[in-house]
Amino acid sequence: MADRDTVTSVSLLRLKERGEKITCVTSYDASFTCLLEQAGVEVLLVGDSLGMVVQGHESTLPVRVADMIYHTSCVARAGQFALRIVDMPFMSYSSVDRALGNAARLMRTGAHMVKLEGGRDVADIVRALTERGIPVCAHLGLTPQSVHQLGGYRVQGRDAESAQRLLEDARLLEKSGASVLVLECIPADLARQVSQCLRIPSIGIGAGPDCDGQVLVLYDLLGITPGKRPRFSHNFLEDSDDIPGALRAFVEAVKAGRFPAPQHSFS
Ligand code: KIV
Repeated sequence: MADRDTVTSVSLLRLKERGEKITCVTSYDASFTCLLEQAGVEVLLVGDSLGMVVQGHESTLPVRVADMIYHTSCVARAGQFALRIVDMPFMSYSSVDRALGNAARLMRTGAHMVKLEGGRDVADIVRALTERGIPVCAHLGLTPQSVHQLGGYRVQGRDAESAQRLLEDARLLEKSGASVLVLECIPADLARQVSQCLRIPSIGIGAGPDCDGQVLVLYDLLGITPGKRPRFSHNFLEDSDDIPGALRAFVEAVKAGRFPAPQHSFS
C-alpha cells in the first residue's frame, strides 16, 4: 500500500477536472478505516451521523466536539492515504471564535478538512476558517443539524425559489473558500446544475448521478442501519461475499457511474 499517493483537496480538484468520480464513505474507527482505504475510497468522512448509527441518538444534535475528537483520533491512527473530512457538530461553529477554536482542536487531532452545514448564514465562518489555513467542506440541501427547522428528513430544493437559493449559496460558499461541497437529498437536476457551475467538487448523497463524487454512510452501505434503508442508499453486501468486497463494489459502482441509479435519486 506504500506506493499510493495521499489524497488532498488538490487531488480532488484534479479528479473533477478529469471527470473521474470521487468516492467517499463515513468512517468512525480504525478497522474500517483500513478496509475503506484498501478498497480505494478516496475520502473518509468522520460524520456526525455517528450520533445516530454508533451512539443510537434520534438525530445528530446530541453529538459533542469531544465525540468527534475521539472518533477522529481512532480514524487518524489507522489512516494513511485518504483525505479525512471531519464534521463540526451542532452549535460548534455558532460564532467565528467558536468555529476557529473547535476546528483547531479537530485539525490537531488529525482532520485534514472540517465540514459544516449551511449556506449564506455560514459564509463568514467558512471565510474565517479558510483564511487561517483550515480547509472547509460545505454542506447544502438536507442539513441534518437543522432537522427540526426543516420539519423532518425531507428532500430540499424542490421548488424554483429554494432551488435558486441553493444555487446562490453554493456559489457564495465556493467564493468564501470552501474546497468541497456535500449536496444531500436534492433533485438530481439541481445537483447537476450546481456541480456544473462550481470549480470545486460536489459530493452527493441522494443527489443523483451527476455530482462529482458520492458519499454513503458506512452502515447504510453495509445494510446494517437499524430501521428502513434510506431510498438513496444501496446495500452493497448484497452484491458481495464479504465486507471488503462490498466496499470495493461501492468504489467500482461509483467510478463506473452505475451508482447511484435512477431509483436512488429524486426528481
Ligand atoms: O454525518 C454524515 O455522515 C454526513 C453525510 C450524510 C454526508 O454528513
